[in-house]
Amino acid sequence: MATLSGCGILPCLVLLGCCGFTLSLASSNAYIVYMGGRGDDERPLLVQQSHRDILSDVLRSDEAAEQSLLYSYKYGFSGFAALLSRSEARLIADYPGVVRVIPNRIFRPQTTRSWDFLHVSPHHTDGILAKGHSGRGSIIGIMDTGIWPESESFRDKGMDKAPSRWKGICQEGEKFNASNCNKKIIGARWYLKGYEAEFGKLNKSQVVEFLSPRDAVGHGTHTSSTAAGMWVQNANFGGLARGSARGGAPSAWLAIYKVCWATGGCSSADLLKAMDDAISDGVDVLSVSLGSSPPIETYVDDTLAIGSFHAVAAGISVVCSAGNSGPYAQTVTNTAPWIITVAASTIDRAFPTAITLGNNQTLMGRALYTGKKDDKYYPVVFGQSILSAHSDEDSASSCDSGSLNSTLAKGKVILCFQSRTQRLATVAAQTVTSAHGAGVIFAQFPSKDITTSTSIPFIHVDYTLGTYLLMYMESDRNPVVKFSATRSVVGRQIAPEVAVFSSRGPSSLSPSVLKPDIAAPGVSILASWSPAASDSEMSPGFNIESGTSMSCPHVSGIVALLRTIHPKWSPAKIQSALVTTASIRDEYKQSVVAEGAPHKQADAFDYGGGHVDPNRAMDPGLVFDADISNYICFLCSLEYNNSAISNMTRIPTDCSKARRDCLLNLNLPSIVIPNLQRCTTVSRTVTNVGAGNSIYIARIEAPAGIIVKVKPSTLLFSSTVYKQTFNVIFRSHIALEGRYTFGYLYWEDGRHVVRIPLVVRTVIDNYSPET
Ligand SMILES: *[C@@H]1O[C@H](CO)[C@@H](O)[C@H](O)[C@H]1NC(C)=O
Ligand SMILES: *[C@@H]1O[C@H](CO)[C@@H](O)[C@H](O)[C@H]1NC(C)=O
Ligand SMILES: *[C@@H]1O[C@H](CO)[C@@H](O)[C@H](O)[C@H]1NC(C)=O
Ligand SMILES: *[C@@H]1O[C@H](CO)[C@@H](O)[C@H](O)[C@H]1NC(C)=O
Ligand SMILES: *[C@@H]1O[C@H](CO)[C@@H](O)[C@H](O)[C@H]1NC(C)=O
Ligand SMILES: *[C@@H]1O[C@H](CO)[C@@H](O)[C@H](O)[C@H]1NC(C)=O
Repeated sequence: MATLSGCGILPCLVLLGCCGFTLSLASSNAYIVYMGGRGDDERPLLVQQSHRDILSDVLRSDEAAEQSLLYSYKYGFSGFAALLSRSEARLIADYPGVVRVIPNRIFRPQTTRSWDFLHVSPHHTDGILAKGHSGRGSIIGIMDTGIWPESESFRDKGMDKAPSRWKGICQEGEKFNASNCNKKIIGARWYLKGYEAEFGKLNKSQVVEFLSPRDAVGHGTHTSSTAAGMWVQNANFGGLARGSARGGAPSAWLAIYKVCWATGGCSSADLLKAMDDAISDGVDVLSVSLGSSPPIETYVDDTLAIGSFHAVAAGISVVCSAGNSGPYAQTVTNTAPWIITVAASTIDRAFPTAITLGNNQTLMGRALYTGKKDDKYYPVVFGQSILSAHSDEDSASSCDSGSLNSTLAKGKVILCFQSRTQRLATVAAQTVTSAHGAGVIFAQFPSKDITTSTSIPFIHVDYTLGTYLLMYMESDRNPVVKFSATRSVVGRQIAPEVAVFSSRGPSSLSPSVLKPDIAAPGVSILASWSPAASDSEMSPGFNIESGTSMSCPHVSGIVALLRTIHPKWSPAKIQSALVTTASIRDEYKQSVVAEGAPHKQADAFDYGGGHVDPNRAMDPGLVFDADISNYICFLCSLEYNNSAISNMTRIPTDCSKARRDCLLNLNLPSIVIPNLQRCTTVSRTVTNVGAGNSIYIARIEAPAGIIVKVKPSTLLFSSTVYKQTFNVIFRSHIALEGRYTFGYLYWEDGRHVVRIPLVVRTVIDNYSPET
């Protein structure tokens, strides 16, 4: 029972993962032996043989190897799964070519898988969840569509009552009174004036909406429960992703600011008022899963930049989503340097769904279909071959709105190919549903993002499988398909990857500020949902959603934990701790990949410092701090009008007195030089937040074509010296109109690795030859 005692502190009934983990260690000894990418010239059969050879060698017999081997991974990458003892697994780890040996984890039923994936888990007794007391004492403000207070995620069992510093209120309204706030939801307000000023009276005849903090959309309930939801057992979405759900900081308090309405949109006036209230109410973290699409407004005109400036001035961390306009460059939004801007990444949970063809072949697609299931074959047709009279082949091929002839589509499964002009799975789903089709197979550019569907099966495949299916359909006189039920599988998908839809840097407004800052899980995230939402018939209470809206509250929850551990840290310090400790390797120690450009290694414009690593963020070693005066200097360097800056900051500003070099020298945990001509020097100051006496040594991975030097290259800290300034000198040895290249500067003391991204683009002042 020794292994079970770890669970003793917390009741096992609640912690499904806890018990599952213990059982799987005791009863299962399957391991995944990961051997890295497969060479193009290596044939699968040879790769498989090499797996057998290793196993035979370790187990000392071919027969034993045959019995032990579960799977050979030999197509996309090399590796295998096998039944092994612990010592055999250790032996294998030392074999040449073996990257990592990982205990199998498929028996762990976890729902908001994302938190276990981030190792924010009660199993880690010295991890961030334990050290941060689950966020106890931190208040997270959520600017969104409101909240469904009856959701189990917002029970207040075991919560402390709101602290005396809390000045917020529980604003009543339609179907929402003071008793809907509790020791979890300690405040709730709603804002409609700006919205009605713009769009006229809210018209409730077309949509369900409540003139109160109550959420009719689901989005706000989802983000709130992701950031700070209580433990909920047996959460699931129509049976999928079943397990126990929780937020990142399950003991943090929630303050709800409803600024968005079911009729669509949120007014910036309302948002600014809500931020204003949140600052005076006393929140510690603001989670804002909102944004507008590019082009973006200047910082002195953008409400979110302005409101967040004041929040940060008051010591509040502001976390925003980066936007869903990826994978195109320069689409990132919410790019003010004082905001923590969050990109979205995948987790290691997949939803495989088998497609069986009439010839008994099986293709593996992905789906989140929770509707009625039957074991029937359906005729399958290509959208293009059943186009409606007023449509063209291109729109019908991608199942664009109204492009299909319903007489011909009725009762059939339709194959559609995503196109540049019709990228949306939801549009294809709607088109086929209204043409009375029986299902959709959607061939798309590689992405792990999956649409939920309730009325008809909607299966995602990639172009290769789509093309294969098309070949089958052309070769068979009666092509038919059937679908198996979707399964939820954890630990069998390389992760994280930056999601295809996640908006990319550089910032179109201030390219010298690295954006996004960081990536966090935002694909197929299960969290609470509003039962009043129109799309919630199947699984009232929970829903699976994707977007940077989902990744933002992950970071908000982590910031709440960090605030509990380091209550005195400025928002800039917290931002720095997240960025410099983020991970740039996936679970298999390989470089993180960014979806959108196939097999592209993720760079700082995809995910800033990297993928959030909460446990390392607790103890960053050194941090880059900044305060309001630094940000004002930055605004002056952008050459904004004095009076505009004064109006925004409410601090009289005379830029002629400010330093003019605050663009590159703003003390961020990254350096981006968008226009290096020959040589430039950038300065940074670090603050030691680790042990008093320490020595940090610089290490550089220079961006291609650039020579980088750090002076000094050693930093000494003591109990009295806790700040040090260093210069980084960038010299280009090419005179070319360049593209962005990427590198890193590391400060290391043997315990901490403080990594900051370096991004440089060379430019030439004119195109005449150099003399
Ligand atoms: C709040 O509303 C609930 C249900 O509508 C009602 O039972 C309760 O009495 C109300 N509480 C207050 C304080 O008005
Ligand atoms: C609300 O919308 C309905 C349906 O479109 C319309 O008939 C009604 O006049 C609208 N009401 C207001 C107050 O605009
Ligand atoms: C497919 O498999 C089923 C059951 O195994 C069998 O009855 C059927 O004949 C097979 N069809 C084809 C085309 O091979
Ligand atoms: C749909 O196809 C049928 C059969 O080919 C045809 O008779 C009908 O006119 C078509 N309808 C439309 C709206 O294109
Ligand atoms: C700044 O803006 C104000 C108001 O628009 C204008 O009067 C002033 O001349 C501007 N100042 C500069 C330096 O451009
Ligand atoms: C700043 O605010 C003042 C007073 O509201 C206004 O007159 C001025 O034009 C504003 N400046 C800018 C640049 O918007």
